[in-house]
Amino acid sequence: MIIRKAEFKCSSSKMSQCPEEEMREFAFIGRSNVGKSSLINMLTGRNSLAKVSGTPGKTKLINHFIINDEWALVDLPGYGYARTSKAAREEFSSLIRFYVTKRENLHCLFVLIDSRLEPQKIDLSFLDFLGENGIPFAIAFTKADKLSQAQINRNIKAFKTKLLEKWEELPACFVTSSETAKGKEELLDFISEMLIT
Ligand code: GTP
Ligand code: MG
Repeated sequence: MIIRKAEFKCSSSKMSQCPEEEMREFAFIGRSNVGKSSLINMLTGRNSLAKVSGTPGKTKLINHFIINDEWALVDLPGYGYARTSKAAREEFSSLIRFYVTKRENLHCLFVLIDSRLEPQKIDLSFLDFLGENGIPFAIAFTKADKLSQAQINRNIKAFKTKLLEKWEELPACFVTSSETAKGKEELLDFISEMLIT
């Protein structure tokens, strides 16, 4: 897919502020600092479309970007930032839960997983929540430039093994780097496929 046009539409602090549910949406979610905003910039080839920060919790609002006047990329706030002793599930704000369960035009939610880490409880718990609610999602492992290929493969395999303990099938998985643009074509092709069906 060629991205001719990518423009910021709006930031919303609640569902009622989000744009009308008319364009197909592809949203990005994951732990704070996992690289959601960076991945959106990498995919669109626009360096500062979404705000990137070394400080976790930068994206606090739902940000909509319109691509080729046809579909939307959505940058969601990270989860798991303000850690408390509460159960992991409660770390998913009501804004996130509401958006992913109620947004009619959400075609696919990309859940970003840091490829440098061993399987994290909060990510597995979030994927369980998606599965239980029948939300269509895919996984994008991020920051693949930071470790050796062997280490990354090991972490990804461990993550998939965890998923298969619970589920029969794996979702679509992508290995990405916003530094090297690894995974860009695969991810955009996947979105293209969903746009024609
Ligand atoms: P919040 O909005 O705070 O939840 O964070 P986010 O998930 O949007 O992460 P963001 O894109 O702001 O990136 C967080 C940090 O990780 C920044 O310092 C980025 O430069 C860095 N980063 C993101 N993706 C990559 C990547 O693929 N490779 C490397 N080396 N660094 C990355
Ligand atoms: Mg962000």
